Amino acid sequence: MEIRTFDANDILKNKETLTEMLRDNYRVNFPDKDISPDFCREKFEMLVTNTKEGNAFVWAAFAEGGMGGFAWAFPHEYFGEKRLHINHIFVKKEHRHRGIARSLMEAILEWTRSMGMGCVDLYVRKDNAAAAALYSRLGFETERVYMTLKVE
Ligand SMILES: CC(C)(COP(=O)(O)OP(=O)(O)OC[C@H]1O[C@@H](n2cnc3c(N)ncnc32)[C@H](O)[C@@H]1OP(=O)(O)O)[C@@H](O)C(=O)NCCC(=O)NCCS
Repeated sequence: MEIRTFDANDILKNKETLTEMLRDNYRVNFPDKDISPDFCREKFEMLVTNTKEGNAFVWAAFAEGGMGGFAWAFPHEYFGEKRLHINHIFVKKEHRHRGIARSLMEAILEWTRSMGMGCVDLYVRKDNAAAAALYSRLGFETERVYMTLKVE
């Protein structure tokens, strides 16, 4: 398995696979939302634009049979502290449990350190046990909890 960083051209060359992975990742993490083809196309275009502008960074994992997973992250400032926000990390079903997500995360953490940022953050659904296990194995801690209340 190999982890590569992707520029905007690489992203465009892999449009179909990345759009499918974005769709599947949104479907896992927002199961009650309508994740339409238009919505996915819009997110893909956003990824291309942000990458071209240097506001988004992409890592792709290649395993036997092609791209097995990817991650999309962007730097932001949190009360004056530079952090990297991991917006998406996804591994195709047939490639799971082989250390691909861990390798993607390790590549991201190494890059974050090399850019002089001292923290990585992300959101995770409370019922996403696989992602929560991945993050806690890497040493992530819960800093804030996002709460909602339906008012009808
Ligand atoms: C979460 C996800 C990225 C994990 O990918 P993966 O390549 O299968 O994970 P890895 O094989 O690298 O596993 C890394 C660690 O996470 C843990 N883990 C991964 N999947 C797990 C599962 N289903 N149950 C329990 N632990 C799990 C493993 O214990 C492993 O720890 P170890 O390396 O110390 O043994 C993958 O399940 C996925 O793409 N899910 C759908 C998208 C998603 O939810 N993304 C996260 C959004 S916040």
